[in-house]
Amino acid sequence: MNFVDIIRSKRDGRELSREEIDFLVQGISEGSMPDYQIAALAMAIYFQGMSERETADLTVAMAYSGEVADLSGIAGKTVDKHSTGGVGDKTTMIVLPLVAALGVPVAKMSGRGLGHTGGTIDKFESIPGFRVEMEHKSFIEQVNRIGAAVISQTGNLVPADKKLYAIRDVTATVESIPLIASSVMSKKLASGAEAILLDVKTGRGAFMKEKEEAIELARLMVKIGQRAGRQVRAVISNMDQPLGRMIGNALEVKEAIDTLKGKGPSDLEELCLVLASHMLILGEKETDFNRALNRVREVLAAGKGLDKFMELVKAQGGSIDLDDENYGLPEAQFKYPVIAERSGYIAGVDAYMIGYTAMHLGAGREKIGDSIDYAVGIELNQKTGDKVAKGDVLAFVHANHEEKGREAVKKVLHAYQIEDAIFQKKPLIFEVVE
Ligand code: URA
Repeated sequence: MNFVDIIRSKRDGRELSREEIDFLVQGISEGSMPDYQIAALAMAIYFQGMSERETADLTVAMAYSGEVADLSGIAGKTVDKHSTGGVGDKTTMIVLPLVAALGVPVAKMSGRGLGHTGGTIDKFESIPGFRVEMEHKSFIEQVNRIGAAVISQTGNLVPADKKLYAIRDVTATVESIPLIASSVMSKKLASGAEAILLDVKTGRGAFMKEKEEAIELARLMVKIGQRAGRQVRAVISNMDQPLGRMIGNALEVKEAIDTLKGKGPSDLEELCLVLASHMLILGEKETDFNRALNRVREVLAAGKGLDKFMELVKAQGGSIDLDDENYGLPEAQFKYPVIAERSGYIAGVDAYMIGYTAMHLGAGREKIGDSIDYAVGIELNQKTGDKVAKGDVLAFVHANHEEKGREAVKKVLHAYQIEDAIFQKKPLIFEVVE
């Protein structure tokens, strides 16, 4: 067996055997397959696709290319949650304490953000003192003690995906359904949870621009998980405009706390309630969706989600001051308004453009290893469907650099589409795949 013959087979549209896939993944993780051959392989898969069996074999081979988390020491059925990447997506910070308060243990390993999408670990790290590194033993112990823990993915989790994803990122081969499915699911399998809830995003700010593609991706991920003996469900949600009103790490923590206080934006709260309800079912705490939804609503209204969030923050060394207007989170030096240049109805707020603008302000990374400014970001005052008059404030740019801030104001203005007539808004949640 050699790499060139296997790349040629895929280039010509043939199905690869499990042995060939294992050989490739071993070559990628050991470093014996050079980057140019990995790039050629990714492009061949991009054009020729992969069958469900090939994708499942690739996923399992990647999942076992490094360390695999052992969560057997956790009492109860562990449920993981994963979003395929969005703008303003702070749902993990809200959903995790809500379900933990209802007895579903969550041992969360999360990644850092790249490009226009944010990463959960960066958001948690914007809380002063919050530690995202922990010994495995302490991780398990914390989940058993308080029901939840969040850590950064260890360096040796799915090394084959790390290498392949980095090459896909610079060779225009990210947007391939089998490659995304195997990348996401390999990390989920290696993270060890028995059940997994996926939030598959679709729309302008997502990898999957079309709803049908997102559904195809979700179906494939659910099947791969089931083949590997895990229970998987996927919620398909809209990412045409950012989720909630805040984009940027500390700003998103602030909005997550507001939501746990029952004062969050309606779209964010709605998605969190739905995701938490599905996790309750996957965790076998409920069988009926409406009953699960009612229980999550009750926990939110009673402030138990906020209590659990504060317990989690404290357990991981973080400090939040609920009496402070900004909860003691980092704040940017400048706040620039973005002013509407015409009257009308907001027909869209381009999530991709907002995500990129936030990244350029310093809230995200253009490439792996870039540093982050936790305080900066964008605050949306108006969202799709809102009526605005010329001169109204559409948004605020939170910046620590004047020139970057002024540049961002122009881009945010451009991300707003204002029309004369009201139009039909798309739903926030399209469907559930299981
Ligand atoms: N997220 C991942 O982890 N992998 C992909 O390929 C795309 C999104």
